[in-house]
Amino acid sequence: MSKEVKILGIETSCDETSVALINLQRITHNEKRKTSGKVLGTRYEVRIKKHYIATQIPIHARYGGVVPEIAARTHVAEIVSLLDKTLGWNKREEDNPPRSPLVRGAIEFDAIAVTQGPGLATAFRVGLEAAKTVAWAYDKPLIPINHLEGHLASAWLVPANRKLWKFPILFLLVSGGHTELVLMRDFGKYQVMGRTRDDAAGECFDKTAKLLGLPYPGGPYLSKLAAKGNPKAFDLPRPMLHDPSLDFSFSGLKTAVRNTLTPPPLPHGRRGANPFPCIVGERAGIEGQLLADLCASIQAAIVDVLVSKTVKAAIKAKPKAIAVVGGVSANPLLKSELRRALRRACPGVKLLAPAKGLYTDNGAMIAGAGLWHMIKDKRFKPWYKLDAEPDLDL
Ligand code: KG4
Ligand code: ZN
Repeated sequence: MSKEVKILGIETSCDETSVALINLQRITHNEKRKTSGKVLGTRYEVRIKKHYIATQIPIHARYGGVVPEIAARTHVAEIVSLLDKTLGWNKREEDNPPRSPLVRGAIEFDAIAVTQGPGLATAFRVGLEAAKTVAWAYDKPLIPINHLEGHLASAWLVPANRKLWKFPILFLLVSGGHTELVLMRDFGKYQVMGRTRDDAAGECFDKTAKLLGLPYPGGPYLSKLAAKGNPKAFDLPRPMLHDPSLDFSFSGLKTAVRNTLTPPPLPHGRRGANPFPCIVGERAGIEGQLLADLCASIQAAIVDVLVSKTVKAAIKAKPKAIAVVGGVSANPLLKSELRRALRRACPGVKLLAPAKGLYTDNGAMIAGAGLWHMIKDKRFKPWYKLDAEPDLDL
């Protein structure tokens, strides 16, 4: 490998369009003291040079959830301008006469990492086709990336975490679409120890928040309100908590919240006693302390299950480090409870998490996973051989 490698990362699998440029630099002997960790056998420094994220949240919030067709169209509208900013194409306006952006740009790179799946097929196809076009124009190889592996790499982008990056690492991957316990034995070598059988944890946050009338995506809103509430106020179920498997299930919790708001009908068509007289229909009109208490109770139920299963997996796998990644890892209670429980169950094992701003979907994490495959197994594909894989698994 040359002394420096630059990689472009493209992510469009759901409702964020994102492009990043990161570089990996081999550190010379004199510079070793300020390095960020021993990776792949040599000392390297990884830097995020450019990173742009165009979120579509305000657009989908109007509909209460992601509308795939709108997501895809919005990626189309955003992707070229983000590539333009990242690769410095706009600089060529200074040229006289302006050159085509398809001519080599101002900024060079070595390969393009792009999300190949899983996700919304129409959405990530936009990033995939854009990546293929850039690969063709620049004559650079593509590195197809599993979006979930990208989330794992989001924790590796933190310099302090790279120092603790010793295999095996246990990951709790909690996002809007996935909830998985993954054991990483090496770069590219994964064992899924458990996963959700129905809704993902983020989906449960979002769906219960929607029942409470909170905006999309509900997770951050619910967790903010929960900070002022009593987590013991409502007795909500902890699905599969005592199940011996490491699988999860969150759809029952959503139903329990719905039943708390609108009790199921009694025989003869009468309804049960409604705990909230102000509620009309499914969208709760609850507010104030009662709303905060219900948010805190929902959050506590989700966090309890996630923490207990992670501890169970850690005791079984005896990892050297544990990481929590994905959008839900932004939740402060989840991280503090995980830390507390792991301190007791596996003392000395550190909890790693992504940097602020890299919890949810982003291009830097895709570029990070791209670096792994560039160095470890040279997973290069020419542009004409790459296709989408919506159901890709780890
Ligand atoms: O990783 P991500 O961007 O999307 C997928 O790949 O699916 O995660 C988005 C999810 C959403 O469900 C959102 O509600 C949740 O992460 N989320 C949170 C918080 N911030 C984001 N859930 C709970 N608490 C938070 N603070
Ligand atoms: Zn994601």
